[in-house]
Amino acid sequence: MKVLVIGTGGREHALALALSRDPQVTEVHAAPGNPGIAAFALLHPVNATDGADVAALANRLGVDLVVIGPEAPLVAGVADAVRQAGVACFGPSAQAAQLEGSKAFAKQVMAEAGVPTAEPRVCTTPEEVEAALDFFGAPYVVKDDALAAGKGVVVTSDRAEALDHANSCERVVIEAFLDGPEVSLFAITDGVTVVPLQPAQDFKRALDNDAGPNTGGMGAYSPARVLTPELEARVMKEIIEPTVAYMAQKEMPYQGVLFAGLMLTETGPKLIEYNCRFGDPECQVLMTRLD
Ligand code: AMP
Ligand code: GLY
Repeated sequence: MKVLVIGTGGREHALALALSRDPQVTEVHAAPGNPGIAAFALLHPVNATDGADVAALANRLGVDLVVIGPEAPLVAGVADAVRQAGVACFGPSAQAAQLEGSKAFAKQVMAEAGVPTAEPRVCTTPEEVEAALDFFGAPYVVKDDALAAGKGVVVTSDRAEALDHANSCERVVIEAFLDGPEVSLFAITDGVTVVPLQPAQDFKRALDNDAGPNTGGMGAYSPARVLTPELEARVMKEIIEPTVAYMAQKEMPYQGVLFAGLMLTETGPKLIEYNCRFGDPECQVLMTRLD
């Protein structure tokens, strides 16, 4: 089997390396790739968010499978273009990728699928923002509705800072603060069957003692033992399986990896957010552990 990995990061390096070690895989290509990937795979230039460009490259190389690493091409519909070109693709459609692409869409799916999460309010005007901040109280959780590479969320007890962030975004989700240890669970699905991988945790805040702002993640480890087998079973049953079933029922089947960011609160696991791709750097530890 010939495989093409799309992306440029450490996550894509981990995916390409894991694929190269699979006895069924005869050739690994990456585009655009990076110098680390070039050590064991062939690199090709591509505009990764241009579906026609990626599909043309896949056909030219004669690959059997395209694996899309980052969220931007998925949200842009690159998986749809690749499938339309007759090539199998690991990664959700543009529609299904809205689970990450729009926080408001994700919250609506959670509500309709009965998935436990923080109660949200979607705001577009300064008046709505003020009202929502007063309704929930401190600590404030303010999220840019659009893709922000893991940096769109401000959690703060400083009302002015919360207001500032909200007013810098076109549309925000303001929600209840959830307390507890945070953990991520990654599940692979073809749209119907869902298989969990191992839980992982990343290090989000910059500076010692977590004193800095949230980053996209600066390190990760797995297993994350805070997610016990009992809790993992609950997360699959209460969060991930109902979401995949809901997406299938609404005719936007979710295919690829579904990344659930979870807070283990006193009243049970709650979903913070979905991502439509592997975490970076969680993918690096997961691929190392995957047989
Ligand atoms: P997100 O981009 O939605 O994963 O948010 C980034 C980080 O903000 C999360 O990993 C949490 O640490 C924190 N966060 C997000 N939502 C909440 C919430 N409702 N309560 C507490 N912390 C949150
Ligand atoms: N490390 C968190 C993320 O990839 O979103």
